[in-house]
Amino acid sequence: MSGQGSEPTGGRGNRRLGVLISGRGSNLQAIIDAIAERRLDAEIAVVISNRRDAAGLDRARRAGIGTAVFSHASYESREAFDAAVAVELKRRGVRLVCLAGFMRLLGDSFVAAFPNAILNIHPSLLPAFVGLDAQRQAWEHGVRVTGATVHIVTPELDDGPIVRQAAVPVLPADTPESLAARILVEEHRIYPEAIQAVLDGGWRIDGRRFVEAS
Ligand code: GRF
Repeated sequence: MSGQGSEPTGGRGNRRLGVLISGRGSNLQAIIDAIAERRLDAEIAVVISNRRDAAGLDRARRAGIGTAVFSHASYESREAFDAAVAVELKRRGVRLVCLAGFMRLLGDSFVAAFPNAILNIHPSLLPAFVGLDAQRQAWEHGVRVTGATVHIVTPELDDGPIVRQAAVPVLPADTPESLAARILVEEHRIYPEAIQAVLDGGWRIDGRRFVEAS
C-alpha cells in the first residue's frame, strides 16, 4: 500500500460491526464479551460464516446476534461470493468488518467496498509468518518471540497497516499448541482494543503506517 489514506469519512456515529468467521469463534467471543463489559463501544450487526458448521455461529446465537451463512461452494466464483457477502454487510449497515478466523481470501472489489474498514487478526508478529499455521511456523523457525497482530486488510494476504501487536515469548518447553494457546490470550485482548481505536477515529494511514493522534 502506498501513498496517504485516511479513515472513511461519514457515519462516525455508526459503530456497527460485521464479524466474519469460519470456525471456533473465540475471537468473536472476545469481541462479544468486550462489548458486554463496556470495554468496547460497538454493536455486532451480523456474524457471517462461510461454513454452516462453524461453532462461532452458536456463540453469536447465544448472544442474540443475527447470523448469516454464505457457503462459498455454492458460488460460481470468488467475486460472486465476495459480492454477496458485501451486499449483506451493507444491508445491515456495517461500518467496520472484522475478520476473525475467516479462512477465505477477499478480493480487490470487496476490499474496495470497505476502504480502510476491514480488520484482520493474525497469530504472529507480522510481517513474519504470513499464511496458515503461523504459530507452528514461528515454533519451527525457532524464534524466541512471536505474537499477534491486528491489521487493516488490503488485497495482499496478511498485509496492511498494523493497528495493534502483542509479543509472546517462545518458551523452551513450548509445543506449537501451547504457544498457540498463549498467543490466543493476547489475540483476545488486542482485537477489541484495535476495534475501539479504529472506531474512535482520529487516525490516518501514512504510507503503510497506522498513525494515531497523540
Ligand atoms: C486465530 O488464531 C486468528 O488469529 C486466526 O485464526 C484463528 C481463529 O480462531 N486468524 P477463532 O475462530 O477466533 O477461535
